[in-house]
Amino acid sequence: MRVLLLVLALVSVFVSSAIPQIQHTLSLVPMPADVQMGTGQLLIDPSFSVAITGHTDVRLQRAVDRFLSDLRRLTGMLPLDMKPADSPYATLVILSGTGGKDIEELGEDESYKLEINNSAATLSAATTLGTMRGLETLLQLVEMTPNGFAVPAVAIQDKPRFPWRGLMIDVSRHFIPLDVLKRNLDGMATVKLNVFHWHLSDNQGFRVESKKFPKLQGLGSDGLYYTQDEVRDLIGYAGDRGIRVVPEFDMPGHSTAWFVGYPELASGPGPYAIERQWGIFDPAIDPTQERTYKFLDDLIGEMATLFPDQFFHIGGDEVNGKQWDANPKIQAFMRLHDLKSNQDLQAYFNKRVQLIVTKHGKTTLGWDEVLHPDLPKSIVIQSWRGQDSLAAAAKQGYRGLLSYGYYLDLIWPASRHYAIDPMSGAAANLTPEESQRVLGGEACMWSEYVSPENVDSRIWPRAAAIAERLWSPQNVTDVNSMYSRLDEISRRLDWLGLTHNSSYALMLRRIAGTDDISSLRVLADVVEPVKDYTREETAPAVPTSATPLNRVVDAVRPESTTARHFTELVDALLAGQASPETKAEMIALLHQWRDNQTNLQPVLDKSFLLKEVAPLSRDLSALGGTGLNALDYLDRSELAPDDWKTEQLGLIEQAKTQKGQLLLMVAPSVQKLVEASAGHAASLVAK
Ligand code: ACM
Repeated sequence: MRVLLLVLALVSVFVSSAIPQIQHTLSLVPMPADVQMGTGQLLIDPSFSVAITGHTDVRLQRAVDRFLSDLRRLTGMLPLDMKPADSPYATLVILSGTGGKDIEELGEDESYKLEINNSAATLSAATTLGTMRGLETLLQLVEMTPNGFAVPAVAIQDKPRFPWRGLMIDVSRHFIPLDVLKRNLDGMATVKLNVFHWHLSDNQGFRVESKKFPKLQGLGSDGLYYTQDEVRDLIGYAGDRGIRVVPEFDMPGHSTAWFVGYPELASGPGPYAIERQWGIFDPAIDPTQERTYKFLDDLIGEMATLFPDQFFHIGGDEVNGKQWDANPKIQAFMRLHDLKSNQDLQAYFNKRVQLIVTKHGKTTLGWDEVLHPDLPKSIVIQSWRGQDSLAAAAKQGYRGLLSYGYYLDLIWPASRHYAIDPMSGAAANLTPEESQRVLGGEACMWSEYVSPENVDSRIWPRAAAIAERLWSPQNVTDVNSMYSRLDEISRRLDWLGLTHNSSYALMLRRIAGTDDISSLRVLADVVEPVKDYTREETAPAVPTSATPLNRVVDAVRPESTTARHFTELVDALLAGQASPETKAEMIALLHQWRDNQTNLQPVLDKSFLLKEVAPLSRDLSALGGTGLNALDYLDRSELAPDDWKTEQLGLIEQAKTQKGQLLLMVAPSVQKLVEASAGHAASLVAK
């Protein structure tokens, strides 16, 4: 067997040396700390084999099995038997130091070294965790070449910038089943995110089985919750991928679902029902009664056993205090204990809860509202209302995480998340010691407007840009490079079973009631959902958990690749850098948009779900025509008349307003063309 492997390795060398060198841009996300390109490539063919040398354990073996399985998926070499082989003749030799901690800890060594030449690859790491990160890098390096699948010769030394790189998924507003979480954990592993923050309880649902307090899930979840066995299953799945699982039980606000079964915990009289709408609600835990703490001691004790991670999130956000204000007993308690404000009362509550969490061996984590000098320095602050609280916490001696700027539900472009660095703003002025307290950050997927069907598309690929911000060196900031690598990684995630791309066409087909969605896609490809919290503000009816998420706004991508590309084309043109191909491509797009209305109208007529996008289709058609006219003026070096310009700008302004909670993302670039055609940019156009 060894001889055979050696022979195959030699064949690989021979084949590789005959291949012309291709200049590589590696599509790695996150970009490793140090990459040195070599020459040549290592073919990934049916003879591919892996050997584990040094330390080994079942987790590492499972990681290698998973690597091989992913490799099969990426190459389609399904029937091939790519079994781990003995050293030293394997294609990939893994040198792993130690297995690491039984329960993954914050700050464990994730570094690795990956060296690939024409005949073999060596992956060395101090821990299994580092090996897993390196295997993900190796998978990302696999590419199609004229001679077969291959990885380029390269030497990579890599380690994360921050030890805490998380993704939070809210499973309360909309329940997200276990299999959907698992595939998203696969996505996390791909981009080296290492903390899954499980937002398990909120006003709209208590989503985990409590055996001590079965009415929590029994009456507070509509039957949509994870059993403790399922929780253990998910934790094991995450652990296998080097991902810690941090549970959040949001209290004392965001807790209506608890009170359906246990109204005695609340600060108001009740009765309570599961909240069906979105927003901030009045119900809050009563922090003044001892039975509250007895209950929390039992519940936290139970959950601290179920969730092995060191950290335990107690929420703490958005308590409006109205139930506290309205309760004379609570007011009397505040006077008695000299608690001057609801913030003081919440700090009193947090302090008591923190003691319970500590008693059960865990470290408390909370949203930035919990930052209060009465709380011990051991707690960790998750900054979401602004970046300053992160620096403020670090200055006061608290460790912190950044989530402000990383809210995926705001439907921002990846570039906007990417530009936000945990060490920027007030954090830029921290001393080295204070900076150490910034542990990293978390992307947050709040689930008011996500379902199991579209949650992947709201997370990916944008979360990968945040993953890079948290892993790669601070100076990795090239937005164009990020986007081109993001496009590639997005395609890779398809093979791993994520549905961010596949759900799009499926949903459009259902919305259209036909498989012929070509004209609908022309429109859908250039619109995005409204941003920030406009979805709530512009809703046609008060949105609830019963509102179907089956509209065009639910199907389209958070970020339109076509619109971004069109912007690049227009910018190149107006900078005088457009090649004839660039211009031809732009004209083809404008033609397509102008003519699309005619093709799309019969489809629109057949679907009640498409009525709301009819005005957008007309706008897109008009924008296409306007863009073509502007290009005509530019081409003829003729200044567009003022009245034409005024009319077109009016039309564009109108086209920029949301319709069906969607934005036409090409309007601003068409506006640039119009302004240039009526301005002084005509001479810039390359002929
Ligand atoms: C939050 O977004 N309320 C933490």
